[in-house]
Amino acid sequence: MNTQQTLQLTKIKNYAFQQLHRDTTGHSIDHLERVVCLVKKMAAHYDVDLFIAISAAYLHDVIDDKLFGDPIQQQTNLSNFLRKIGLSSQQIQEIINIITSMSFAHNLEQQSCLNLTGQIVQDADWLDAIGAIGITRAIYFGGAHHEKIYDPAIPVRHNLTRDSYRNLADETILNHFHEKLFLIKDKLNTPYAKQIAAKRHQFMHTFYTEFMAEWNATK
Ligand code: ADP
Ligand code: NI
Repeated sequence: MNTQQTLQLTKIKNYAFQQLHRDTTGHSIDHLERVVCLVKKMAAHYDVDLFIAISAAYLHDVIDDKLFGDPIQQQTNLSNFLRKIGLSSQQIQEIINIITSMSFAHNLEQQSCLNLTGQIVQDADWLDAIGAIGITRAIYFGGAHHEKIYDPAIPVRHNLTRDSYRNLADETILNHFHEKLFLIKDKLNTPYAKQIAAKRHQFMHTFYTEFMAEWNATK
């Protein structure tokens, strides 16, 4: 990365932090930093555009429809900002392409065609949704959205669309394990991410099984 890109990345990081530092649903600065850290680790193993990958990692939640009331406006603001700090139209387009198509919700109805740079950003984001941190984020998100912890009368939803996935009226935190968390390991793009996911996946199963044992033992 050249000096100009290093300076631009500092500005991008500040922009993302300013947009998301107030988040209390699991998408705050600590999430962004973990995604960036994983992206850097993966980038050492794959031939990707490091500047685009780190920029997209910082910015991936800045235009999210579940976090912002007007995601189109967020995208316009982001493009304007990136232009102002000197990114080319092509770089802006590459970043926007990645962050608008990498989300789990987006991928429910069609698998996005991400290039390798986009794929490692997606893998990094999805890895942060599983394991001990993933469980904690799901509980935190569910609490913020007034979900029940668990209700055996509420069935796990299958064949979710983007809209039904975002409808939290009949969602429980424990059902979210089946609707997203347990599915991630097989949806990851790179062997590197799949290797990290194996242990995290196993830990979530152990947690889930223990939860159900405790739940059923107190009936
Ligand atoms: P994406 O932006 O990739 O579609 P999600 O919205 O699925 O991502 O997830 C962002 C974070 O919020 C993840 O850690 C995820 O597990 C959590 N999350 C999303 N939906 C729910 C839900 N209904 N209940 C609990 N946690 C959720
Ligand atoms: Ni994210």
